[in-house]
Amino acid sequence: MKGEFGMEHREGGQSGRKKAQEAETRNTAFQLFHDPLLKRALMRHRHEFFKSSLLFVCAATLWFVAGCNKSEPAGQPATAGEKKVKSTYTIGMSQCNLGEPWRVEMNAQIKAAAEKHPELKVVFKDAQNDTLQQRSHVEEFVSAKVDLIIISPKEAQPLTEPVAKAMEAGIPVIVLDRALLGDKFTCFIGANNKKIGHAAGEWIVNKLAGKTKPGEKAKLIELKGLMTSTPGQDRDSGFREAIAGKDIEVIFDADMKWLEPNARKEMESALSRFSKIDCVYAHNDPGAHGAYLAAQAAGREKEMLFVGIDALPQEGVAYVQQGILDATFQYPTGGAEAIDTALKILHGEAVPKEITLGSRVFDKECVGQGGRELK
Ligand code: FRU
Repeated sequence: MKGEFGMEHREGGQSGRKKAQEAETRNTAFQLFHDPLLKRALMRHRHEFFKSSLLFVCAATLWFVAGCNKSEPAGQPATAGEKKVKSTYTIGMSQCNLGEPWRVEMNAQIKAAAEKHPELKVVFKDAQNDTLQQRSHVEEFVSAKVDLIIISPKEAQPLTEPVAKAMEAGIPVIVLDRALLGDKFTCFIGANNKKIGHAAGEWIVNKLAGKTKPGEKAKLIELKGLMTSTPGQDRDSGFREAIAGKDIEVIFDADMKWLEPNARKEMESALSRFSKIDCVYAHNDPGAHGAYLAAQAAGREKEMLFVGIDALPQEGVAYVQQGILDATFQYPTGGAEAIDTALKILHGEAVPKEITLGSRVFDKECVGQGGRELK
């Protein structure tokens, strides 16, 4: 017969010597028990034994009750909604590229915010500006069964489906900065690009007012962000609304796809085509800076205004301080907010479908005071 740990238990066939030894042991125990001195000692110990047993039972009960209120280790059922309370949560972060300072800053903010919560582990992936690679990253996170995905997508349309599939697999998704199509995500976090584009348009209209001869329009170059991404579309439409009916003519526009070298090249061709340019509006600060460098190389940078978007302290804001850009509009990365929201989702709390971040303008007049809030 097999015992509890698979040891063999043999029955029967005990030798007479073994039986005699057992009888002797029983006998000795009987004699000892009837010894009066030993009896007293045993009684005293019995008393102490009861006391310690009682203490042990009380301690065990307390330990059990306390244990019921504590977070369970990974995989145990939880108290908050349908969520599982786990000792560690893995967040998959898919970044569309790390070639631009703004995205490096976003990842740094996510990392810093997550480090304040030892239960969070963030796995970063860089899609290197390749939509197909970013799709695979989302699929890999789903196969790895991460607890939550944060994605800052390159383009809206091609990344909508993999995110919807992650949601179907029960993984919550936070979309950061660039939006997707439809509503198959948990929460979108980003600033209002249309409002920023509109504010940039109004700022330019005010600055250029009275700078042209009567009946003439100011000449403007628009260097657009990637037009298959929502910020590019919204920064354009908001801006166009603000300048509609004003004395501004967009004489040249191009999709520089958010990249400084592209912006510089596009600006070189604009400079060669137009002898008078009053303003460059670029959808981000790298774009505005690329345009500035092209104009500077042509010896024409004083002729026009340069306006960008992002306002990173070490980039756009510094350019305004150095007199390279005339204005920049802040586009917060939302990294810290993404981690706050992720924690809420992981703890089973409700979060809004959309979190809109604020923005500020930095120009020569207000850069010294930390910019001015966009109303
Ligand atoms: C970085 C960037 C920023 C811009 C944002 C828009 O990739 O181009 O400069 O504000 O993306 O999504």
